[in-house]
Amino acid sequence: MVPALTQPGELLCEHRGEMAEAARQIRVRDLKEKKRRGEKIAMLTVYDATMARLLDRAGIDVFLVGDSLGMVIQGHETTLPVTLEAILHHTEAVTRGTKRALVVADMPFLSYQVSVPDAVRNAGRLIQGGAAAVKLEGGRPILEVVERLVDAGIPVMGHLGLLPQHVHELSGYRMQAREPREAERLIEDARMLETAGAFSLVLESIPADVAKTVTGVLSIPTIGIGAGPYCDGQVLVSYDAFGLNVDSVPPFVRQYADLGELMVEAARAYAEDVRQGKFPPLECHASTPAASDMRK
Ligand code: KIV
Repeated sequence: MVPALTQPGELLCEHRGEMAEAARQIRVRDLKEKKRRGEKIAMLTVYDATMARLLDRAGIDVFLVGDSLGMVIQGHETTLPVTLEAILHHTEAVTRGTKRALVVADMPFLSYQVSVPDAVRNAGRLIQGGAAAVKLEGGRPILEVVERLVDAGIPVMGHLGLLPQHVHELSGYRMQAREPREAERLIEDARMLETAGAFSLVLESIPADVAKTVTGVLSIPTIGIGAGPYCDGQVLVSYDAFGLNVDSVPPFVRQYADLGELMVEAARAYAEDVRQGKFPPLECHASTPAASDMRK
């Protein structure tokens, strides 16, 4: 007789182990492990506690409290007016709603470019607000800042390619690293960020083959947005992905739902009910005892 390889109890234990693993809080180290195992990382921007609760249930690995909130929440045309206070406010809300995902807070414009001590203090405030890591845009100009943050115990996610905080210098939101010299520079910057201690790297709007090279030469995971399929993970602005962005969305975005239209329809139905006196219905409302006596 062939001995059974597993007993029912063992299977149950294994299943429980998998469930516990799926529910466990994601740490910085887990992202590198995911890359090593060839598991892709799913990241979305999140700005409030309700969205955090919902997307945590969906099993999103990383929540980015992105400075894109300047555009989709605050209605600005760029991310440049976003303040540290605004990112801190949204980071605190997101972390209140998060049990599993790794929360990364974006460092806004001028919060890390002025001086290294300033950068450490500002990043520290975001960590005190509940973030597990911070994200900074740029390569060699910010290497010293990255080193000092990592020395201070603050994990850093890098960001190369299209840098929205450089929108004026770049003359708009256009694809980067198309020329071989530009691509080489970006690959060197990526290596330097890894050496400086970054634990992962966002690659925004660059050709897929450049992203593939960067992903191949680094041991830290790359997370792409408009950078093709070869990155170790992907990130989208959640408002774009769920159809909540009323402005134009970049061409690489895939819209997974049309929540914007659903909200408009729901709001129309509500307004119609209110105007026709159909909401609220009387039977759902308590009357005072005196009022019910009067009706007898
Ligand atoms: O702020 C943001 O949403 C971002 C993503 C585009 C990566 O930085």
